[in-house]
Amino acid sequence: MELTLRAQGLKKRFKERQALAGLNLSLEQGKIYGLIGHNGAGKTTLIRILCGLLRPDEGEAHMLGWRVPSFRIQSQLGYMPQEIALYPDLTVMQNLEFFGDLYDLPKEQVRERASSLFEIVRLQEQRHQVVGTLSGGMQRRVSLCVSLLHKPRMIFLDEPTVGVDTKLRRAIWEHLEQLASADVTIFVTTHLMEEATRCHKIGLLYQGQLLTEGTPQELLTRTGAKTLEEAFTIIEDQGVSPR
Ligand SMILES: Nc1ncnc2c1ncn2[C@@H]1O[C@H](COP(=O)(O)OP(=O)(O)OP(=O)(O)O)[C@@H](O)[C@H]1O
Ligand SMILES: [Mg+2]
Repeated sequence: MELTLRAQGLKKRFKERQALAGLNLSLEQGKIYGLIGHNGAGKTTLIRILCGLLRPDEGEAHMLGWRVPSFRIQSQLGYMPQEIALYPDLTVMQNLEFFGDLYDLPKEQVRERASSLFEIVRLQEQRHQVVGTLSGGMQRRVSLCVSLLHKPRMIFLDEPTVGVDTKLRRAIWEHLEQLASADVTIFVTTHLMEEATRCHKIGLLYQGQLLTEGTPQELLTRTGAKTLEEAFTIIEDQGVSPR
């Protein structure tokens, strides 16, 4: 088992609010790790720290052999933020070209890669449409393409399929599973049980702490629950890890 990421003792406080309370995390190469937790549990804060966008107050993380943050891993890192961060006045393809430039990718390569991503998320028809005129679900799909454009080895997706319809969500997950089988490591936050079930491992974040981790089946067996939703409720009520 090879680890892509190891984080230890991560703490982050925003004034009186403890967003992360000493969090440890290991991500295995080629696995999809799903992070579940209520609004405000600390999911986005954790991702921002791991991507090097926010400094933890305490603790450290190593990713792909380097201590975070490091410019050496930026080209191998994909990040889809929870809030859309695209240029609304540029077309879909122009947005991809802009981000391709940031990664120093040749234009021809960007266009080819973008086209194959547009097929996966069904955006071929919109590729010359101005992003600001797309629906919210479509904009999220563009944002997903941006995060995958440079073939990163480690991908962070913060609620990637919010507002994306069921059929497309399945297509996106099939693609994520393909990436994982090609040894890409994926960390995804979600509120959807359907998505949690597809993860190789799930962590339940509660008030900045991981209450438990395990495969979907392990969490069901451990709690005796019939659904993951029920399992999470049981674990939260216990308040401590039944590991
Ligand atoms: N920049 C900030 N300044 C002040 N407080 C912040 C900041 N970022 C996050 N917080 C607080 O930290 C806590 C964790 O927020 P975070 O965004 O990480 O939660 P989350 O699990 O991603 O929630 P959601 O499911 O709503 O996306 C919240 O109480 C939030 O208000
Ligand atoms: Mg969030």
